Amino acid sequence: MQTRLTQLLGIEYPIIQGALQWLAKAPLAGAVSAAGGLGIVNAKSFTEPQELAAEIAAVRAITDKPFAVNISMLPEMAGGEDETKWFEVCIDEKVPVVETAGRSPKAFVEALKEAGIILMHKVPATRFGLSAQRAGVDAVTLVGHECGGHPGMDGVSTLVMIPKAADQLEVPVIAGGGIADGRGLAAALALGADGVVMGTRFLLAAETGLHPAIANRLEEATELDTTLVMDSIRNTARVLNNDTARECQDLEAQGVGLEELIAVISGRRGLKALSAGDPEGGILALGQGVGIMDEVLPVAQIMERTVAQAQEALAKLNREMG
Ligand SMILES: Cc1cc2nc3c(=O)[nH]c(=O)nc-3n(C[C@H](O)[C@H](O)[C@H](O)COP(=O)(O)O)c2cc1C
Repeated sequence: MQTRLTQLLGIEYPIIQGALQWLAKAPLAGAVSAAGGLGIVNAKSFTEPQELAAEIAAVRAITDKPFAVNISMLPEMAGGEDETKWFEVCIDEKVPVVETAGRSPKAFVEALKEAGIILMHKVPATRFGLSAQRAGVDAVTLVGHECGGHPGMDGVSTLVMIPKAADQLEVPVIAGGGIADGRGLAAALALGADGVVMGTRFLLAAETGLHPAIANRLEEATELDTTLVMDSIRNTARVLNNDTARECQDLEAQGVGLEELIAVISGRRGLKALSAGDPEGGILALGQGVGIMDEVLPVAQIMERTVAQAQEALAKLNREMG
């Protein structure tokens, strides 16, 4: 499968693994890259730059194929933070690809370019993609309303967002949001995307190492088991509809500010719940794609099945459309 994205990144299949906070570490990223996709390590799963450097080395011990580091920058309204140290690690370690999200990467474009690093930026609307393109990014990922994590506030589905972005952007477009199998990959390519990002699907990859209690909950979940939180602080997130999400929604309905919400939505609480295997105990990002996947599989099988299913879907369409 060759697209502008596979050529840009030097990968076999136009499939990028989502930057799952706390979970997108070397075993998952290395396996996805080894299987011909683009694995991603999430920088913000670490506290110290040396920890990220060690994780990058761990990916390189698994595969010599390209991989990426995701740097999720907190939007200003959610507190903002100086992210320079994470970019410095990526430059020092000469990682092949950086993915940014959350805020414009403009301030870091020049340094990344000088280091020969490919920069992909993730946004929830074409207008942000256009400004990222103007800032000099090499590819733009667009995530629709179905996605796990942050779908933006426009409520626009992937089905509408991608053709619009493909029409308006010149750089390769990566489609995300609700893509959890090969039919989604084929559809995204038909809509004009050059590749896809799958986050929710890789939650149930064996290498993600999800606690069995959480994996069981997700295996049973349907597309009706996600909900939106954090609208009130303009940082909307699609998450598992659990006790913590409802607690957050109750507080938001009472009109509390960021300071009071933090205790409930904090990533640390999410991490604690993930480690303890408590599906109710923290916020867990989750996309509607959870409704079209039902088993934990090794990454290699997820990749093989996705590619084979996309090829089948495209062959079927070719036959049917003549
Ligand atoms: C559990 C989980 C954690 C995520 N954490 C992050 C993150 O820290 N940074 C980020 O840019 N995206 C994050 N995402 C979003 C994914 O990278 C990707 O954009 C999204 O999952 C694609 O939509 P899908 O879930 O429908 O496949 C997360 C997604 C999930 C499901």
